[in-house]
Amino acid sequence: MSYSKGLFSDKTLEDILQTSRRNNQRSGVTGVLLYADGSIIQALEGPKETVVALYETILQDPRHWHISTVLSRPIRQRTFSEWSMGFQAVSTIEIEDIRNLIITQRGRQSAIMYSDNVVLGLLQLFYASHFRNAPS
Ligand SMILES: Cc1cc2nc3c(=O)[nH]c(=O)nc-3n(C[C@H](O)[C@H](O)[C@H](O)COP(=O)(O)O)c2cc1C
Repeated sequence: MSYSKGLFSDKTLEDILQTSRRNNQRSGVTGVLLYADGSIIQALEGPKETVVALYETILQDPRHWHISTVLSRPIRQRTFSEWSMGFQAVSTIEIEDIRNLIITQRGRQSAIMYSDNVVLGLLQLFYASHFRNAPS
């Protein structure tokens, strides 16, 4: 999770995605990047050493800051096996909701910690919380 330095232009975003897809395909990393108005949430999956090395590189990237690790853990199965780096533009409200869900859920022995599909679990929680809050 991080914040862009200023808003990403379409060109910057395209550059990041293009480089990511090229490199990740080569190194066997898959994942997804969500972006909304300067907030970024990215999921990376792959061999541990590869992901750790890539994360170190991303940490040094001057295009973003206030970078934090939300969740880091072994998985049995990839969620984004088809995507060298999927991309979804989301609304600020959606990204804030996802961020808050991740923060409230981490460390808890909730279903999500046992799910192989972290983001699907998050999205399920996200939709469930919206459903609960929806006016009837
Ligand atoms: C939010 C964000 C996410 C990134 N994700 C990736 C990624 O998944 N894979 C990748 O290779 N580079 C990613 N980058 C770019 C790296 O920081 C770095 O610029 C790039 O790996 C350098 O690749 P190159 O040596 O082939 O030019 C990301 C950068 C940012 C700002």
